[in-house]
Amino acid sequence: MYYSLQIVHTLALFLVLGDNFLADEMNLSILARASSLSTVFASRTLHRSIACRPISCSSVSYAPNSINPKTPLFLRPPIFTATLSDLQKWQNWAKSLASSVGSSFTESDNGPDSEILHRELNWLIEDALENPNSFQTRSEFEFDTVLQLRADLGDLYALWKQRIETRRPFQYIVGCEHWRDLVLSVEEGVLIPRPETELMVDLVCDVIKENVDLKGGLWVDLGTGSGALAIGIGRVLGDDGSVIAVDVSPIAVQVALFNVKRYNLQDKISVKQGSWFDPLTEFKGRVAGLVSNPPYIPSGHINGLQAEVGRHEPILALDGGEDGMSDLLHLCNGAAFMLQPGGFFAFETNGEDQCKFLVDHMESIQKNSFYDLKIVPDFAGIQRFVTGIRL
Ligand SMILES: C[S@@+](CC[C@H](N)C(=O)[O-])C[C@H]1O[C@@H](n2cnc3c(N)ncnc32)[C@H](O)[C@@H]1O
Repeated sequence: MYYSLQIVHTLALFLVLGDNFLADEMNLSILARASSLSTVFASRTLHRSIACRPISCSSVSYAPNSINPKTPLFLRPPIFTATLSDLQKWQNWAKSLASSVGSSFTESDNGPDSEILHRELNWLIEDALENPNSFQTRSEFEFDTVLQLRADLGDLYALWKQRIETRRPFQYIVGCEHWRDLVLSVEEGVLIPRPETELMVDLVCDVIKENVDLKGGLWVDLGTGSGALAIGIGRVLGDDGSVIAVDVSPIAVQVALFNVKRYNLQDKISVKQGSWFDPLTEFKGRVAGLVSNPPYIPSGHINGLQAEVGRHEPILALDGGEDGMSDLLHLCNGAAFMLQPGGFFAFETNGEDQCKFLVDHMESIQKNSFYDLKIVPDFAGIQRFVTGIRL
């Protein structure tokens, strides 16, 4: 699953950038911009199989009006029904809407093309039907057969209209994202976890293999969002150690808590609301490991983001200040007083220049705080992460 996600994402990058993208430095910087937080392609594994009526009124609200995290569509009870014929009409309408997009989104802001949207439609069908296979294999002569759905057919019309017309991210439509071996609930107000960030859990696995003491210590995920890193790390710590997940956003805190409970990790992971190190003062100098994927997009780049990201994902999760470095520098400085001697940190960055800047900063201004500083590439070869050990 993990490697296939990597392959899917890399394939998505190839689709966006063409096949000669590794050739020179300029293309590398384009790749850096096109990957990670600037795009949000649905990243389910390719092996997921199966791939006009006017809209009734669009009644599905997606404003983050209350903090009451929702169960992902595929886990909701199949309490709705529709005839095969009505479902096929919806599918045909949805397909033609997806086809009408062509490559227009890609040309305007690197958004998804029709091929990606058709794939997403198949995933939506898989999530919304109790028995998607029987839908695909039934003959047209069984048109009045009744099928069980996890969402009302009217809502499916409204959801697909939102996907195409307002560019609402697919993950918010189905209420989840597949990330490593997890399926995390996500909704408006919470960043959709990206495939690149999965590598941070592998970096933690590597370091706890080398130093088993760290495995039993306290780990911290700063800016936890959906709780992805905290849950991924909580699971690799096994019976040892514990994790504190921090976020300033009340929606993120509720969604992270919801995901922690869905994976039955509430005894291992606590979720705290507050700004960066504020909720952690009592753990000063006692943290074994610290990870963060903070906001790092330069403010001036926010307007140019893919519509799915810029219009729908929380600005609080994206905007890293004028040069994108504000939060990263704050975290670097804080890591020096939070980590225990020998403690490990890993930060995700926007790539390349931000990594170099952080390492330069640590080697000069914080030269007595850290050693073994490394810049680690993501699976597309982009210098993405900075890791190090507290002296
Ligand atoms: C890029 S998102 C990362 C979310 C998650 N860790 C992931 O990788 O999917 C950055 C997160 O930092 C949070 N954040 C922003 N400012 C913060 C602050 N001052 N203190 C704590 N969290 C903050 C945002 O709410 C958001 O959830």
